[in-house]
Amino acid sequence: MAIQQLEPESNVASEAPSYAFGDAEFQILDDTPINPVDSYELPAPVEGFAKPGEIDADILEMVSKLTLKEKIGQMTQIEIGKLMDKDGFLDLKQVEYWVDEWKVGSFLDSPGNHGGKYQVYSPERFTEVVDSIQKVALEHGPKIPMIYGLDSVHGANYVNGAVLFPQPTSTAATFNPKHAYESSRIAAKDTRAVGIPWIFCPCLDLNVEKIWARNYENFGEDPYLTSEMAVASVKGLQGNYKKDRNRVAACMKHWIAYGKPNSGKDRGSAWIPDNFLLEYFVPPFQAATDAGVASAMESFSDINGQPVPTSEFYVETLLREHVGFKGLIVTDWGDIWRLYQDHQTAKGEYDATWQTIKNTSLDMSMVPDNGNFSEALLHLVETGRIDESKIDAAAARVLQLKKDVGLFEQPYADKSLHTTVGSKQDVALAIDAARESVTLLVNKDNALPLKKEQKVVVVGPAGNSISFQNGGWSLRWQGSLGNEEYYGGRGITIVDGIEQVTGTRPEYVRGPDIDGKWTQEDRDQVVAAVKDAEKVIVALGENTYAEFGGNIDDLTTSEGQLELVRLIKKSSNADIITVLVQVRPRLLKDIPELSSAILNAYLPGSWGGLAIAEIIFGEVNPSGRLPFTYPKHGSQSSVTYWQGVYNYFNINGGEESYYSPEFPFGYGFGYSEITYSDIELSSNTLELDGSSIEVSVKVKNDGSYPAKEPVLLYTTQSIRPGYAPDAYRLRAFEKVDLAVGEEKTVKFELSRKDIEYYQRDLKKHADEGVNFTITINAYQKDARKARFVTGGAYEFTR
Ligand code: BGC
Repeated sequence: MAIQQLEPESNVASEAPSYAFGDAEFQILDDTPINPVDSYELPAPVEGFAKPGEIDADILEMVSKLTLKEKIGQMTQIEIGKLMDKDGFLDLKQVEYWVDEWKVGSFLDSPGNHGGKYQVYSPERFTEVVDSIQKVALEHGPKIPMIYGLDSVHGANYVNGAVLFPQPTSTAATFNPKHAYESSRIAAKDTRAVGIPWIFCPCLDLNVEKIWARNYENFGEDPYLTSEMAVASVKGLQGNYKKDRNRVAACMKHWIAYGKPNSGKDRGSAWIPDNFLLEYFVPPFQAATDAGVASAMESFSDINGQPVPTSEFYVETLLREHVGFKGLIVTDWGDIWRLYQDHQTAKGEYDATWQTIKNTSLDMSMVPDNGNFSEALLHLVETGRIDESKIDAAAARVLQLKKDVGLFEQPYADKSLHTTVGSKQDVALAIDAARESVTLLVNKDNALPLKKEQKVVVVGPAGNSISFQNGGWSLRWQGSLGNEEYYGGRGITIVDGIEQVTGTRPEYVRGPDIDGKWTQEDRDQVVAAVKDAEKVIVALGENTYAEFGGNIDDLTTSEGQLELVRLIKKSSNADIITVLVQVRPRLLKDIPELSSAILNAYLPGSWGGLAIAEIIFGEVNPSGRLPFTYPKHGSQSSVTYWQGVYNYFNINGGEESYYSPEFPFGYGFGYSEITYSDIELSSNTLELDGSSIEVSVKVKNDGSYPAKEPVLLYTTQSIRPGYAPDAYRLRAFEKVDLAVGEEKTVKFELSRKDIEYYQRDLKKHADEGVNFTITINAYQKDARKARFVTGGAYEFTR
């Protein structure tokens, strides 16, 4: 397809005087109407799943014909802001500059984040920007198509009208990888629709530090759950990415252990023993690699004092050799610059670039806003400090990715996808995912579900907001900060959802704002609204944020929101149904005591209000489970369920467990009575020769609601010589559909790999002759346990 004449008056400036942002009037949305079709059919997905591997002969030949500067250009990624003029239009002269002067091979990000005329671009306008850059790339410099990358974290969140799915932590709470697959598949389609074949997802950092601002982009605190969701996401995003042009190349990130900053602040240093890194943090990346993920992004962190980008150990030994990752590695934003700016491990750009390229097989630098990387690398190769073969290998991996995603055959967007963006068919998938994610944590005297004829009042800053249901990475990097206009009415708030479910629009009073600030008038309105109410739904949440924009010093729920719940209790006899619309587990203080029920809705996306309402009124039986530990005290911010197998004595007497959170990992229940049989094992001995034992349990729905029951299997090693065992480790799960009265047998296999662990020699070990406990649904009232022993004799008794 040839790109049409670019239209300066719409999106592309013909003669732009400079690229510095001016005082242009920016608009929220462009004026292209968003009218998706209700349903659509895509060509059948191409069978099979692809993997990065050897470099093709034609790519090697191509590399051999490029100049050094052109090869370095392929390794260079520049952000879109460098291409915009002062009025927010794409400045073709700037594109030409980067392509002609620096031979840049890749661009990234939403123009709305970087001085674009619009805060959010329609599929048409976004395509126009991307295709226009592509056109320049094809006609200038080395005339190689550029590859554009975008963060489509929960759907194509930067494309106006695209369906915004629940954020990944919500997806994890479903314990149903199907939802990770589907949301990723749609994100891929809608991102492809604007000509972008590369998505910087999935995020596979573990939510081990609860105050960290990026938890919601990930799949919770457990390595196995995250791994299962990683595989489903990679398959959904990529499919057979070497052939299927409705899919994209995925990018697992952030390699590695980015989610455990010592300070709790985004990008902070981490100290993690190597055996723990291998045990907990590597497995999701291993799973994504085995599923064929095409690329990986490094983290900003320094771990054990070493910034990842220059670390031979983290990049070469761990990622390339141990994990066996063969795809493209890109830095995170400005990582090389940060080596001298923040980490202070290099003297300047030349030194930082030298250390990085010398020590690792990095393929692309997300520079993102100057020619320094290219200039430095050019100099380093020309002066013999870096061998050109390293540049050849990196450029080859970049070009191979371009070939794999089809850029050499079809460099421009497939505009026929535009009308599918935001279709009802996709909305239905997002609502389904939200339905399965919402987690019931407290339900005193069966306070929920409510009857449809019961009058409810909705209170709280997250009660009528699409913005707060989405969080960050939604239309804009920092989210829409409560500005509902961004959504153009596309979405369902809790108030809307209740209206849809009951036929009556409930009274809504905000109370404090999302940051907890309020006036006496706000308080008076709340008191007036709730004083005679029977049921009050209080929706609490957080403002939208991304990355360091979400750093906080105190995990406690904002004072105003705590006060809101207390004020309702004081002013009325109503049952308080608290709905938490947030992933970061803000400390609840006395909210559990004051509430009759608590639902954790996490960040359920634009359409999540319907799912919440359906659950409140019993149309849907809640089936989410907490994918992380919900702390009770600030001191528990970095506590995970696998730690703390032993108890300790409290100085004031009594014994306390290290694991005593507000709600444990895996917690949550539904409205139906589910009965579990005892566990049956095919053998009480697990031989360590690779054979397996079968674990089975019968699950019956004895209640009156159809159920989707997550069955979670954990192992616990009773004695582990020389190393403290985990309290529990999730080894398998399955979500089972159970009609009323139905019983099913759920079967799992356990083998050596499920009981191995890393020791200081960085090798996996399995202990002979030790007892293990299998627990189904640890921390739940219906937990079931069984014992097995590993084959062989315990070393001490031999
Ligand atoms: C984030 C990455 C993201 C990149 C590009 C960085 O600030 O850490 O997750 O992919 O920006 O937007």
